[in-house]
Amino acid sequence: MPTVLALETSCDESAAAVVRDQRPLASAVATQMEEHARFGGVVPEIASRRHVEALPQLIEQVMAESGLGFADLDAIAATVTPGLVGALLVGSVTARTLARLHGLPFLGVHHLEGHLCSVHLGEPLPPGPFLVLLVSGGHSELIRVDGPGAYSRLARSRDDAAGEAFDKVARLLQLGYPGGPAIQAAAVGGQADRFPLPKGRVSLPTGGFHPYDFSFSGLKTAMVRLVAEQQRQADGAGTTLPVADLAASFEQVVAEVLVERTCRCAKDQGLETLVLVGGVAANRRLRSLLAARCQTLGLGWRAAPLAYCTDNAAMVGVAAEQRLLAGGHSAIELAVAPRWPLEDALALYGRPNPF
Ligand code: KG4
Ligand code: ZN
Repeated sequence: MPTVLALETSCDESAAAVVRDQRPLASAVATQMEEHARFGGVVPEIASRRHVEALPQLIEQVMAESGLGFADLDAIAATVTPGLVGALLVGSVTARTLARLHGLPFLGVHHLEGHLCSVHLGEPLPPGPFLVLLVSGGHSELIRVDGPGAYSRLARSRDDAAGEAFDKVARLLQLGYPGGPAIQAAAVGGQADRFPLPKGRVSLPTGGFHPYDFSFSGLKTAMVRLVAEQQRQADGAGTTLPVADLAASFEQVVAEVLVERTCRCAKDQGLETLVLVGGVAANRRLRSLLAARCQTLGLGWRAAPLAYCTDNAAMVGVAAEQRLLAGGHSAIELAVAPRWPLEDALALYGRPNPF
């Protein structure tokens, strides 16, 4: 079984991991969130600088924890797309330099393929194709997986990603950044059916609605109006904003939309296993709603382990390991790109150089 040192620096987490046989021998993440929180979002220049500072120590740490030396590795991997270019470059240049220095193959990994592979860090999946709901700060997508590298996107968000909606609504409720965990905490004990909120359907030019695509911008606007109205009422009555009920109602409608459209897509596609990955997959309400719905419908489901939902390098290592087992690796001069279709992820491991 190959052993891979993997790096992840696509956004605001610097991460390194040593992975063997789909298991992390060591995995470490240095988050920069607090620093970006002051600005209410990720500042690309700061992100790159922090990756430069954090990576050497993270690499030393995971190598030491794994008990391995560079001579024991079969490859070195780093996320090369999509993400912030300056941030991606830090991981990519570091990984390529180490690979060259130690005479090892380099693998440039697609960040979303990494998220897809995070599910393999948990319980084994049943055989057969499956449908992945990938929900993160940058993406909300339904992806059919017919095997490693065989991906087709069946739905996407037309505007905000689900995680982005959590972050924006958390800011509106003054709960801080990142918004997902803050909303989840604030929603505990809240009444989830107190405020009816829109489910954001996407109209088709031919009439009717797209069966699975997501839209969260209308929900965000509805929350802005609702919070303003509730604030007025609270001020008039001399009470405070019902934050727990607002957070719970928002969390509930997002979870319902995601689960309903995923189940419908799975049914239409004849797929019997659903997989939940990405930062928002850490959400307890979403996980329990998906579990309940799958039980009713007789579908199987798996989610990435909680520790590997948000960005990490272990998932990048698993993706690299799959590719290495299939006999592929990337060109040492492979650069980085802010965007690249997941369906074309295999091009990262061949010639000509795709970027
Ligand atoms: O996958 P990730 O770490 O980064 C991207 O690739 O985007 O996802 C980060 C997103 C953030 O928007 C964050 O608010 C959201 O995941 N998130 C959550 C939870 N934990 C993180 N959203 C809802 N509930 C959570 N528990
Ligand atoms: Zn991510």
